[in-house]
Amino acid sequence: MNASAACTPLRFLLNGRPVSIESSSIQTTLLDFLRDRGLTGAKEGCAEGECGACTVVLVAGDGSGSAYRAVNSCLLFLPMAAGHEIYTVESLAAQGKLTEAQQAMAAAGGSQCGYCTPGFVMSLFAEQYRPGRLGPCDPEALGGNLCRCTGYRPIRDAALALGAAPEGPWRDRLAKPAPPLESVEYESEGARFTRPTTVAECLGILAADPQARLIAGGTDLAVESNLHGRRWGRLVSLEAIAELREFRETEDSVRIGAAVTLNEIAARWNAPPESFRQWLPLFASPPLRNRATLGGNLMTASPIGDGAPLLMALDAVAHWAGARGRRTAPLAEFFTGYRRTALEAGELFTAIEIPRPGPAFSRFYKVAKRRVDDISTVAAGMAMDWDSAGRIARARFAFGGVAAVPLRATAAEEAVLGERWNESTVRRAQAALARTLEPISDHRGSAEYRLAVAQSLLEKFWWERREEAAA
Ligand SMILES: Cc1cc2nc3c(=O)[nH]c(=O)nc-3n(C[C@H](O)[C@H](O)[C@H](O)COP(=O)(O)OP(=O)(O)OC[C@H]3O[C@@H](n4cnc5c(N)ncnc54)[C@H](O)[C@@H]3O)c2cc1C
Ligand code: FES
Ligand code: FES
Repeated sequence: MNASAACTPLRFLLNGRPVSIESSSIQTTLLDFLRDRGLTGAKEGCAEGECGACTVVLVAGDGSGSAYRAVNSCLLFLPMAAGHEIYTVESLAAQGKLTEAQQAMAAAGGSQCGYCTPGFVMSLFAEQYRPGRLGPCDPEALGGNLCRCTGYRPIRDAALALGAAPEGPWRDRLAKPAPPLESVEYESEGARFTRPTTVAECLGILAADPQARLIAGGTDLAVESNLHGRRWGRLVSLEAIAELREFRETEDSVRIGAAVTLNEIAARWNAPPESFRQWLPLFASPPLRNRATLGGNLMTASPIGDGAPLLMALDAVAHWAGARGRRTAPLAEFFTGYRRTALEAGELFTAIEIPRPGPAFSRFYKVAKRRVDDISTVAAGMAMDWDSAGRIARARFAFGGVAAVPLRATAAEEAVLGERWNESTVRRAQAALARTLEPISDHRGSAEYRLAVAQSLLEKFWWERREEAAA
């Protein structure tokens, strides 16, 4: 596919019916499109993925069948819907009969003004039909939905009241695979949206059009568009590039394609390290994690992004491709400055590789203003291995929020090597942090506060190891 490839309309399935679009701007959100068509169940609360009032479900592949995945329609540009199968709240009540998720919300008194309710219902619906789910629905599935007036107890009661998904067309649909995503070439109002299917094609587009902007889950870019008015002449979606969607676990490593979503990683990783299990629920919310990717997270190169500290502590290696061929670097050397990475213009981040076996002990900590669904003030990934004599053979202390880039605190790591992991070793490592970290002060925390947090997280890591060893 090249810059002059023929453009075609956008086609997708909406509430079971085919839709074809020829003239919406490439940055129209799916939410705005739905509401313009009179499907006003999905609401706009924030336009930045925070409130869940806009939640709809996409059909996504799950083993040999599929699953309903709740997503924020405010963060999907309309061309990203191409080839997908999408359902809104309007589709749930057939012939005037509410689905169980709707009935449960009504019976529990889970709605007052009702603004948030369609969003909650869609998240709850996706959760009820989650393949392999047993017992009541997990209220954590509603973690991306906010309600300002009902209070969460009745909504939680509704989730807990829902049992197995009932038989019928909604369940039958999941026995079949999700629609395969094909290439897209769409143009409107002078801007283009392209969806290549191979790395080579994607690199060709980047070489021919240096202004093209890559988009994976769009959870960062759509916020730039919705809230900051950013406009791009060309967006290149990574969603259909098979290599970027691969997840491969071998004896030596786990390789995660740049465009695999965070929830897919969790579903496909057989025995992830403990730090990953802790990291996942602290990252945004369930609908965000259904779209957000590791590639997108690392490529924002945010000093407070949560992916980097987790992965650096696991000795992850970054893989990317471009005109200079395939390149790799330890993630610890990947961030070259504030919001900068080792990638050059026209290059594509392809995968992250984590060596196996993983560390004996690993933890992830995130300190933010709220416990969940918030941006880190300080985040830390930590990992340790010991030799047969009980001395530290490998230590990894990686931090976000303590410098202009995410980093490994190598002076602190070196200070503990060969030592026993006891209080005096912790103090030595904390002193090394004080000597070497250079946090910034901003509205989330002063430099002094961030340093104190980093030091106390190190101490927490020590305490938790003691507790585990004593158990
Ligand atoms: C409500 C909300 C909560 C959030 N919470 C968190 C959180 O808890 N922790 C956290 O770390 N982040 C959080 N984020 C930020 C964001 O969701 C993550 O950074 C996410 O992982 C980005 O992935 P994406 O696929 O959506 O990226 P996109 O938005 O698709 O892309 C982000 C950037 O990366 C570039 N890019 C994407 N893929 C590639 C590639 N393969 N090669 C080269 N460049 C690429 C894009 O051009 C763009 O510049 C949150 C965002 C929102 C809206
Ligand atoms: S409008 Fe708030 S998450 Fe989409
Ligand atoms: S019922 Fe009013 S915001 Fe939830």
